[in-house]
Amino acid sequence: MSRIALSACASESFVLEQPSSVPKVSYARVNGLRQALVVRALRNSGYEYMTNHRNPISLLQQIRWYFTQYRHASRACSYRLYLFHNDQNLPVGYGALQLREERLCLTECVGTLHRGRGYGKAILAALIEIGRREERELVAEIWASNERSIRMHRRMGFVLSSTRQHAGQDLHTYFLNVSSMHE
Ligand SMILES: CC(C)(COP(=O)(O)OP(=O)(O)OC[C@H]1O[C@@H](n2cnc3c(N)ncnc32)[C@H](O)[C@@H]1OP(=O)(O)O)[C@@H](O)C(=O)NCCC(=O)NCCS
Repeated sequence: MSRIALSACASESFVLEQPSSVPKVSYARVNGLRQALVVRALRNSGYEYMTNHRNPISLLQQIRWYFTQYRHASRACSYRLYLFHNDQNLPVGYGALQLREERLCLTECVGTLHRGRGYGKAILAALIEIGRREERELVAEIWASNERSIRMHRRMGFVLSSTRQHAGQDLHTYFLNVSSMHE
């Protein structure tokens, strides 16, 4: 299949098959305001390690962002959000993929009430699977102080590529080359 066909990133709603140590989740690409507002609630429950906006996002900001930026970016596949539900159909977290210089820059967030139960790993596994299908290298920018996230990405195969100063703190860049992964 060609890169063009793969990059179309069209139908995206899945139940993720995982080892039994990882909880079962289903996920769907955010394509409506209602889902975008659920993402806002999850994100505002704990945003201390975000790399871009490190403040709560207001309702108005999220609505404006959804209509003026997200819808267009999602259609163009340059930025997309996936909302994750657990087996009781509760929203537990989200993952984001941004296309940057042919790579997919990813981030994930689990609602504070749901952390430490394996959902972060489940979300990361799903984003890796998307990167593998689209044959794109994955990039994660993580604060050096975010030990939990660093441990999680390293366990899933990410390797440290560089560190730079951002907003007065060390920001690590981790890579995962999905083409070296087994089917
Ligand atoms: C990072 C984050 C996504 C992890 O989600 P989570 O659901 O809590 O993580 P999991 O339960 O799947 O655990 C993943 C790994 O994190 C580490 N971890 C989990 N709970 C931990 C804790 N209480 N203390 C330290 N490390 C912990 C472990 O290495 C764990 O892997 P293991 O179970 O194989 O040892 C979540 O903490 C989060 O949303 N943080 C804020 C946003 C963020 O930092 N995003 C990443 C930016 S790139």
